[in-house]
Amino acid sequence: MLVDYSLKMPKNIIAGEHAIEQLSGIIATGIKKIVIFTDKGILGAGLADLPKALIEKAGVDYTIISEIPAEPSYHEAQAMVDEFKKEQADFIIAIGGGSVMDVAKLASILATDEYKVKDLLDVPLLAKKQITSLMIPTTAGTGAEATPNSIVGVPEKELKIGIVNPEMIADYVLLDSRMIKNLPKPIAAATGVDALCHAIECFTSAKANPISNTFALEALDLIMNNIIEACTNPAALEAKSRMLLGSFYAGVAITSSGTTAVHALSYPLGGKYHIAHGVSNAMLLTPVMKFNQPAIKDLLAVAYDRVVKDGDKELTVDQKSAYMLSQLEEIVQVLEIPTSLKEFNVPEEDLDGLVAAGMEVTRLLVNNKREVTPEDARKIYLEIL
Ligand SMILES: NC(=O)c1ccc[n+]([C@@H]2O[C@H](COP(=O)([O-])OP(=O)(O)OC[C@H]3O[C@@H](n4cnc5c(N)ncnc54)[C@H](O)[C@@H]3O)[C@@H](O)[C@H]2O)c1
Ligand SMILES: [Zn+2]
Repeated sequence: MLVDYSLKMPKNIIAGEHAIEQLSGIIATGIKKIVIFTDKGILGAGLADLPKALIEKAGVDYTIISEIPAEPSYHEAQAMVDEFKKEQADFIIAIGGGSVMDVAKLASILATDEYKVKDLLDVPLLAKKQITSLMIPTTAGTGAEATPNSIVGVPEKELKIGIVNPEMIADYVLLDSRMIKNLPKPIAAATGVDALCHAIECFTSAKANPISNTFALEALDLIMNNIIEACTNPAALEAKSRMLLGSFYAGVAITSSGTTAVHALSYPLGGKYHIAHGVSNAMLLTPVMKFNQPAIKDLLAVAYDRVVKDGDKELTVDQKSAYMLSQLEEIVQVLEIPTSLKEFNVPEEDLDGLVAAGMEVTRLLVNNKREVTPEDARKIYLEIL
């Protein structure tokens, strides 16, 4: 059976140590009003200073919207979109992690009063691109600068839901390694493992295809071989640059393939307990990949041959896949990311609710090569309780 596959990408991608300076040329095209989406952490770290200076030099009017909370609910995202609409802007710049970029992407398709974020939870494809958008990621990362996704909390369901609409794909992406130079270690570690999950999940997904594999494998190579150095050595700019590129590639892989049961079972942990997205994925990475191993060991062996630089090509598939799983586990341990829900005071009585909520994320569970039954989900959650 011939299965079709496709890829949609941001139109313009500029990467390097001085990518942000390219902003001057991009906005010198008759733009009247820019809204910069960012958050307090980014402003405090001074990461908006250079983009602001370039906009001022270009003489373009701008406003900053910086009240975006980490991992916003759809109500919070709507409040930001409403702020945005008042500004009558014709260009959006997002400077931040996934939380900021996801809100900016929603604003780019909800600039008129026709639809609200809530409408897109039910019918994501309703809205069309209205405002040109430019993403500057400051974590490495969600890859949100590459994807058509916007993830919002839905408090009523104690879940996070991904709104997927290709119209949200950014028009410009600036990958500038200075943006992640001083990323605090816990954020670098959690967001780095999120990118790692994107790469390995997309490569082992039922939706994987030749295009997504190209990006997923390169992402896996860049991330697995640089994540520890990038997160633990403040001076390792080279490793950080590779993480930024790897996380972008992993985002591209999501767009053509899709994440699997790690992300599916992770959404209730974010939605109900507000555990950071990268942390909840890190907790589930090893339990889910071990569960998946029988169905994906050939793929893990392919990944081994690509990623492990001094690897022994003569090892068996079982040995190679076991080594890959041990490496994933080691990364989470070395980076000191919490691996138990106990650290977040999640009681065992919540198990049934977690299983029910996790099983609702069918959008991603269908991508998992080994079927996940409610009983399987229960066993996986029990491992991290
Ligand atoms: N759209 C997608 O494709 C996609 C993919 C994965 C995750 N997500 C979503 O993205 C959100 C998480 O994004 P995130 O992990 O990038 O974190 P985040 O955007 O929530 O940021 C976390 C914290 O880090 C701070 N921060 C970010 N960059 C910094 C820097 N360079 N220096 C100092 N502080 C910095 C922020 O101020 C914030 O307090 C979640 O809602 C998740 O569901 C979206
Ligand atoms: Zn993710």
